[in-house]
Amino acid sequence: MIKLRIKAGDGKKTALAAVAVFHFEDADQPGAMSVRLDGETGGMLNRLHQLNDFTGRLNETALLYPAADRDIKRIIVVGLGKKEKFDRDKLRGAAAKVAQTAREHKLRELVLALEAGYLDMDWADAAAAAAEGAVLGLYRFREYKTRNEDNGPDVETLTILLPERRHLKAVRKAVLGTEKICRGVYQARNLVSMPSNELTPSRLGDEALKLAKSRRGIEAKVIGSREMRRLGMNALLGVARGSREEPKFIILEYRGAAVSMRPLVLIGKAITFDSGGISLKPAEKMDEMKTDMAGGAAVLAAIGAAADLELPLNLVGLIPATENLPGGRAYKPGDILRTMSGQTVEVLNTDAEGRLILADALHYAQRYQPAAILDIATLTGACVVALGEQVAGMVGTDPEVKEIIRKAAEQTGELVWELPLWENYQEMIKSDIADIKNSAGRFGGAITAAAFLSRFTGSVPWVHLDIAGPAWLTKDRPYQPKGATGIGVRLFIQFFMNWLEAH
Ligand code: BES
Ligand code: MN
Ligand code: ZN
Repeated sequence: MIKLRIKAGDGKKTALAAVAVFHFEDADQPGAMSVRLDGETGGMLNRLHQLNDFTGRLNETALLYPAADRDIKRIIVVGLGKKEKFDRDKLRGAAAKVAQTAREHKLRELVLALEAGYLDMDWADAAAAAAEGAVLGLYRFREYKTRNEDNGPDVETLTILLPERRHLKAVRKAVLGTEKICRGVYQARNLVSMPSNELTPSRLGDEALKLAKSRRGIEAKVIGSREMRRLGMNALLGVARGSREEPKFIILEYRGAAVSMRPLVLIGKAITFDSGGISLKPAEKMDEMKTDMAGGAAVLAAIGAAADLELPLNLVGLIPATENLPGGRAYKPGDILRTMSGQTVEVLNTDAEGRLILADALHYAQRYQPAAILDIATLTGACVVALGEQVAGMVGTDPEVKEIIRKAAEQTGELVWELPLWENYQEMIKSDIADIKNSAGRFGGAITAAAFLSRFTGSVPWVHLDIAGPAWLTKDRPYQPKGATGIGVRLFIQFFMNWLEAH
């Protein structure tokens, strides 16, 4: 990950490979930093605008080369679009664009000149958003590239330059926090990008143990199939039957507050590969089903980041992990599973496996007497059909928790939209011969899946996030290169902060 530095001053007296400045499309005047740079470069920025070579359209870039005797070697100008449409997320994207431009030019260091007043933002907020965008926009997954030319040089340091020393302390603190959160996002993206032959349930369990070992306040425990049998986790065991990989039930506990404080329980679906099982998926794009553990990755990474931030709350992460494969011992359509809660489930489709493993985890969560349960899962294709590739679906039983999630999503730029959970949906998951069935057909598929989960949440306030769409992008977004997004990590951390404010 790129190193982040904060400095105050005008950036003079040091040789600078590149300085980046922002510009609004409809600015009546440039920011103070632009004016200063303009003076230093004999009016280059001014000429750029006068010649109409740069309008300030969102993420438009221009590269300028000051005269050889100047300290600054390059100026990168980036458009912020129209002022009235500007927000934190646009700033993240523009900062990512700056960082990516620097990488394209093989620059090792980059200075980002910040003008919070000009942006109409708090200094700490603006610096954190810019740093976040740059770091997340530079992410790439190179673990399996063995040739050097594919790895290329990378931007090593990003210095955020403030005009005055006054805000230095607050900005440093905010950016340090962002750095910890971004580390979590990188970790989640890495786990999701890893192929399923390497990232098995056991390996994911090892990652959890490693996480706990390297941090204060976290304890990890990994339960194997023997103990699962003893606990009666027959839904999880049922899904795992087709695979030669042993399933794991991963437990992470973070203690950041008094024992008397009820924990928040996070549950993340971790199907390390979803072939559909006997209800086999079509071959096309089946490779993408290595990402079916993105919920689990988000939970693991968010708990790590929460510990790094020393958040004063108690968290429990539960990650049911298994492959879903066909095989001679695999569970089959028509099978009935007795879940840990005692409720029986008729399996109509072995590809609706996520809700089965989550059912046992949701029931297990009850023993913590949680203040709330949040689950996150790449649960249904129906959610992608309903909301598109970029948006997570939210379903839940508690208005307050839903509202805190909604607010957090607005802050982090992760797109979340609520779907209803009315009584009529419960009707749709009734089984003829068992208590419920695991598939209710195509109509309202994202909601009937959530209705299924709601049968295992007891009376604990609960919110479910379906990230089947946004866990993996097939096209680049401003600060999310295509591939794994790490969705959920920033959302959870922001949720914790908002929750702490409200309680
Ligand atoms: N993991 C999939 C959902 C999914 C689809 C995630 C696309 C990411 C991208 C899930 O296990 C699944 O297969 N769901 C089925 C449920 C159906 C059989 C009721 C689906 O959505 O088709
Ligand atoms: Mn499936
Ligand atoms: Zn799945």
